[in-house]
Amino acid sequence: MIIIYGASGHTGSLIAEALHGQELEFAMTGRDLVKLQTAAGGICDDVRCAQAHDHDGLVDIFEDADVVVNCAGPFGLMGEGVVRAALAADCHYIDTAGEQDFVRSVYEQFESAARQAGRVIINACAFEVALGDWAANVAAAALNSPIADSISISYAVDNMQPTKGTRLSILDAMGKPGYRWDEDRWVPASPGAERIEVNYPESFGQRIALSFPSPEVITVPRHSPARRVQTFMSLGQDNPLTRAASLVAPVIAPVLTPLLGSLLRTSLGAIAESTIRAAEGARPSEDNVARFAIVAEATCGTQTKRCAIAGENIYRVSAGIACLAAERLQNEGELGGVLTPSELFPPRLALEEIAAQHSLFIELPDEVPGEATP
Ligand SMILES: NC(=O)c1ccc[n+]([C@@H]2O[C@H](COP(=O)([O-])OP(=O)(O)OC[C@H]3O[C@@H](n4cnc5c(N)ncnc54)[C@H](OP(=O)(O)O)[C@@H]3O)[C@@H](O)[C@H]2O)c1
Repeated sequence: MIIIYGASGHTGSLIAEALHGQELEFAMTGRDLVKLQTAAGGICDDVRCAQAHDHDGLVDIFEDADVVVNCAGPFGLMGEGVVRAALAADCHYIDTAGEQDFVRSVYEQFESAARQAGRVIINACAFEVALGDWAANVAAAALNSPIADSISISYAVDNMQPTKGTRLSILDAMGKPGYRWDEDRWVPASPGAERIEVNYPESFGQRIALSFPSPEVITVPRHSPARRVQTFMSLGQDNPLTRAASLVAPVIAPVLTPLLGSLLRTSLGAIAESTIRAAEGARPSEDNVARFAIVAEATCGTQTKRCAIAGENIYRVSAGIACLAAERLQNEGELGGVLTPSELFPPRLALEEIAAQHSLFIELPDEVPGEATP
């Protein structure tokens, strides 16, 4: 039995659709019975309700679950309680979090408890992180070296129509510290403090990207040894305005980031949050979906290996990834601990499978002879 928590939302509903399509047994759960019943119409007759802060209520609705798939964000605000309840109900846990600080905190808090319980916790089974985590692993494995000098994962997204949950998650993450991986530890890093040029695939082309804190910084060093791991986001199509912004950002980022964090902790942050919460939760249109490209590059000395992905419909791809992970974990009895996407699936095969399901473009490096995909 797979239980979706936050199933009334856009991502949760798409996961329900995908599980229904595969004829898997699932329940739709969340905090609002009426919204859940509307979302479940025609595809699910098992609807359950519990608030995110009600530990006993959550344990009750998770009781017969093999896997909980949590899509109730922002995860920094309410994810931890759902992880705790899933472990207490003795089931595996998956989420779609894209918040670096939350992914680090889950790893640090729950790794040992999950390992001892023989249950798997796996964050960020969605467009942002699983694809980048797999791509980074594939690029690093193609190097002729057991350790990379650096691994970078760079995103470009055009025409993004974020849902209410995504907007709130971005706002919550903006007030938190960001990290990069540097010589065996996570060190604080201001968003926008570094700038690189990336050759994105398909029609995205050459673009400037600025550093930003994505959870691959937390997941990639656990499976792919590297001296530095960093994540970047393109500012949009290359033009004089984005070039100027990219030159200014690294100069002002170290000053602006703490200032923004402080501002978000004042009543200004509360006003921004309540404005987003009050807005209608419009769903992204299926006719005008976001396009994305991700490039992972691993370097060692003069050698560079890259793996790239491009496609469209971020939310449907995310649902497909979460669904694949839930299906994989449903009958899992061997693994335990807080795992990364690359530890749950052989990364090359996972990329090929998701690419085939969602018509994505993928560019894979040659495998190092004798190092076939596990
Ligand atoms: N990493 C990625 O690539 C990726 C991709 C997709 C989504 N996500 C993340 O997944 C999360 C959900 O996104 P979405 O697009 O589905 O957003 P959404 O459509 O706005 O849905 C949000 C869901 O969270 C629930 N929720 C909100 N506050 C809650 C609370 N206090 N207690 C219990 N449930 C609560 C909502 O319940 P109600 O309906 O009752 O309000 C709804 O089910 C966001 O954090 C988003 O950033 C990440």
